[in-house]
Order: sequence, then structure tokens, then C-alpha cells
Amino acid sequence: MPKSYDVIVVGSGIAGLSFALKVAEAGQRVAIITKKNSAESNTNYAQGGIAAVTSQTDDVEMHVADTLDAGDGLCDESAVRAILKNGAASIEELARRGVAFTQLDDGRVSLGKEGGHSKRRILHVKDITGKAIEEALVHGIESSPNIETYEHHFAVELITASKLAKQQGRELEGADRVLGLYALNTQTEHVETFAARAVLLATGGIGQVYQFTTNPFIATGDGIAMAYRAGVEVRNMEFIQFHPTAFYSKEGDRFLISEAVRGEGAILRNLKGEAFMEKYDKRKDLAPRDIVARAIDAEMKQSGARHLWLDTRAISLKKLHEHFPNIYEYCAKQGIALERDMIPVVPAAHYLCGGVKTSLDAETSLDGLYACGEVACTGLHGANRLASNSLLEAVVLANRGAEAVARYLTHSGANAVDLPEWIDGDVRDSDERVVLLHNWDEVKRTMWDYVGIVRSTKRLERARTRIQTLDREINEYYWNFKVDESLLELRNLILVAGLIIDCALQRKESRGLHYTLDYPGKCDTPNDTTARRI
Ligand code: FAD
Ligand code: SIN
Repeated sequence: MPKSYDVIVVGSGIAGLSFALKVAEAGQRVAIITKKNSAESNTNYAQGGIAAVTSQTDDVEMHVADTLDAGDGLCDESAVRAILKNGAASIEELARRGVAFTQLDDGRVSLGKEGGHSKRRILHVKDITGKAIEEALVHGIESSPNIETYEHHFAVELITASKLAKQQGRELEGADRVLGLYALNTQTEHVETFAARAVLLATGGIGQVYQFTTNPFIATGDGIAMAYRAGVEVRNMEFIQFHPTAFYSKEGDRFLISEAVRGEGAILRNLKGEAFMEKYDKRKDLAPRDIVARAIDAEMKQSGARHLWLDTRAISLKKLHEHFPNIYEYCAKQGIALERDMIPVVPAAHYLCGGVKTSLDAETSLDGLYACGEVACTGLHGANRLASNSLLEAVVLANRGAEAVARYLTHSGANAVDLPEWIDGDVRDSDERVVLLHNWDEVKRTMWDYVGIVRSTKRLERARTRIQTLDREINEYYWNFKVDESLLELRNLILVAGLIIDCALQRKESRGLHYTLDYPGKCDTPNDTTARRI
């Protein structure tokens, strides 16, 4: 028998948890499905903070102007204004839910600065903002009688009216809509069926598509892949944000060194010790991220260096300890004292600006299916996200989406439908499974080498050929093998890699995060791209 709820939320980062709390407060019965423990998410690692206009000397229109400038001509201006004007209210809501934003000695809230912002407007909890938000929200859902959380449940596939009609060999009646989903219980290894009239995808980003990323292992693009397979529109996948400053380690880990560190005076230097950002932008080290990451890439290519340096020595020890205790401690463990030594840094894949296309009420192109947070594309970020705008976007869209779901549940007259159980393949072959591991490496390396910060048509076409081969292989496995988490994630990664390549090949210009040697200029009438399987 399927488990039945009013609303299913997939993912327990800031987007999923904020939405679940709102929907549950409105009296709906909610299931949260999350593939690890509740706290494991990109949210949990957010450092710099959350951008919002809260000071008398700031203005929402200035925040709008900075966002549009970073987005390089591709933001939806009405979305930008609608989302950013909710900044102060979202901060108040998070504070009400228990997030204790860092305050100055005089009791005013501490405001950090990051690249592309013309004002100090980043509210933060030291340099562990995400952990503080995640803890407060998880506490909230644990105390809610209307929410049941299914940890270690991996959402595999959406169940839609059209898929069901096809399976049963009949015509679809009325518009297509979501009916629920299948989720693999990774502890019992059984696929369970969940029914609901509304589903929210809040599955976060795709960083694991790349060999080097700041993102944790959960970021495998599952929500985008599920939505795409259900026929939902996905857009602007070429806009992958590479964070300029991840800690360089030979082992390949990429711990983030927050942009807020540059906001307090740290500067980038090449291996000769020269500060170089002035050559690239008048805002120097605090230019928007696409510009800084490309500048670092150019400096590294010119000199053949494996990393550059971030020099924090001008920041007082008191400031380092008070604002950046987590970064200070991580670097100290690597033998680097920030008051004395410089940090070896490199760019790493960080954030997806595109995703599942949604309205400003988090609605997707499929009835009953909603999306918010990093999985979604509202038009706020355009071709490049302004630092610390993503946590804010997630809260605002979660709230608007929760209201939209309440309206949908009241007005859509759809009846409950009997959902079939999952049918599994029965092959288990450990030799073949080793091949899967190799395929993981190959996808990540291909994307890093050919679909990185600087692109060309030839490199993108090479990547397309490789990913197409991997796509064929993985689909054979999927239909024949008993599914497990690694197989499901790899299948999603490969699909998402293909969507990124397809969008990148469609964009015949360089804009924001998409820079290609074959089309270095901008076209006059830029459009969004719509992703297609390669
Ligand atoms: P996430 O927080 O990633 O949550 C996704 C959830 O979905 C997780 O619980 C995951 O387990 C679950 N999930 C995924 N797939 C499945 C599946 N198939 N089945 C079940 N569950 C699934 N942004 C800012 O604005 N300010 C910052 O300071 C900042 N710092 C950052 C620092 C780092 C190191 C990183 C990686 C990102 C940072 N970002 C920052 C970006 C920001 O943290 C993310 O964009 C945001 O947290 C995304 O929230 P989310 O709720 O959409 O997704
Ligand atoms: C950071 O702290 O540098 C990350 C901020 C962000 O991704 O918005």
C-alpha cells in the first residue's frame, strides 16, 4: 500500500524545510523524503551568509541593481524585484525560527560584504550560517505534528498521470499531473510508493557532476533529472558558477574559503606574490564571481601554476577569530595560520544558476509539481548569481510556493488514484558494478576538462560524444539491475551532464558564467536556453 500524504517534499535543505514548515502550519499532512540524514545538504555548508536589505543606508533598488549587474543581462527583472523585496521579512522569519545572526558589540546585526555587492548586506552566523539555519529548521520539523520525515530515502522517479496511462495502455484524461513518487529506502533496499496531490522538489544542486566541487556528495542533480524525465521544462543549465576560492588540496577535496574573507580585506596573489585582480576589473577582488574565477583561470594557465594564493594577513587576528572561526580552524589543521601564511586556492564548481523552470510561486510546467531552492530556476540569477542570493531565494520561494500549494489543493478536484508498486530488475553482478565506479570518474573528469570555466565548441562536442556513450551504458544497467543509490545517482549525473552540454552548445555567445572561445562577444537579444537530452 502506498503511503499517502497531502504534500511530499523531496529534500531537507533550507528550501524543503522552510516549505514543509509553512505547509504543515497551514494544516496539511507532509512527508519529507531525504536521501541521507536530515541535516546533510548544501545548506549545511553555507558560509558567507544571506543577502538582504536590513540597514538604513541600503536600499532594495541597490540590491536589485547589483543582482542585475551580476546576472549579465539575463535576469528576469520582475522576479529580481519580487524576490529581493522580501529580504528583511525572510530574515525576521529565520530569526523567529531560532537562527541567531551574529551581532556587533553594540547590538546591531553584523553585515558582511561579498563580491558584486555595492553595500554591506550579508547577514551571517560567523562563517557557519548554513549550519545554524539547518539546525533551527530541523528543530522546527521535529516539533511539528503534521510532518513525518523519511531519512535515508532516495527519491527515484515521479509518478505522473501520463506515465500511468501509458503503462495501462490507455489515453490520458485531462492535463498531466503529479500523483506521487517512488523512493528507495536505502536501509532496507526496497522501493516504496508515496502518493500525494502535490510534490515539491527541493533537491539542491549538481556540483558532483564535476571532478572538483565545493558541494557535498548529495549534490547529484536528482531533482532536475526526475523533473526532466517527467517532461518538465528545465532551462539555462550552461550557467555553472565556479567559486573562485576553494582550498587547494592534492587529494582533491575543495573546502570553501568564503568570499566574505575577501570582503574583509583578503586579496588574491599569483605565485610571484603579485595582486592581479586590478588587471581584470575595477572592483578588483570583489568583482562578481564569474569575473574573478575567469581571472584566476587565466593567471593559472599563463603561469602553469596548480593554485594561486589568498592573502589574509591584512585582516586582524580578532576579526579572523570572530568572523571566520571555521575557516581558521580548517586552515590551521592544514598547517596554515591565516595571520601569517597565505591560503592555496583554486576555483571549484559551486552553484547551478539554471534548473527546473518555475513561476514566482514555485510552480513547474507539470500540475501539482513545485520546485524551489537551487534545483529551480526563477529568473533571479540570470547568467551569474550574486553572492549570498541563493539562501534568500530559497526562503522566499518556499513561502510563496506553500501558499500556492494550499490554493492548488483547494481548487484542483483531482481524485486519489491507485498507484502500482515498483517493479525491480533482479540482476546483481559485482564485476559489472566496478564499471559503474569508473563511469562516475569519467563523467566528472569529462565535465571538468571540457565543460569548465572556459569552453569551446570543439571541447563541448567531445564531451557530448563521451556523455552520450555513458548515457547508453547506464540506461542498460538501469533497466536490468536491482537499483541502488550509486546507480541511481550516476544515472542522474549523466543525464544532467548532458543537459548542461546541450544548453552550452545552444548558447552562441559569452555571457556571465558561460564563456566560449568561439563566441567571445554577447548577442543583442539574449534568450534563455531550454535543455534537451543529448
Ligand atoms: P540543499 O541544501 O542542497 O538540500 C538538498 C536536499 O535534497 C538535501 O537534503 C539532499 O539530501 C536532498 N536530496 C537530493 N536528492 C535527493 C533524492 N534523490 N532523494 C531524496 N533527497 C534528496 N548560498 C548563499 O546564499 N550564501 C552562502 O553563504 C552560501 N555558501 C555556500 C557554501 C558552500 C560550501 C556551498 C556548497 C554552497 C553555498 N551556498 C551559499 C549555496 C547554498 O548553500 C545552496 O544553494 C542552498 O543551500 C541550496 O539549498 P536547497 O534547499 O535548495 O538544497
Ligand atoms: C561564500 O561564502 O563565499 C559562498 C557564498 C555563496 O555561495 O553565495
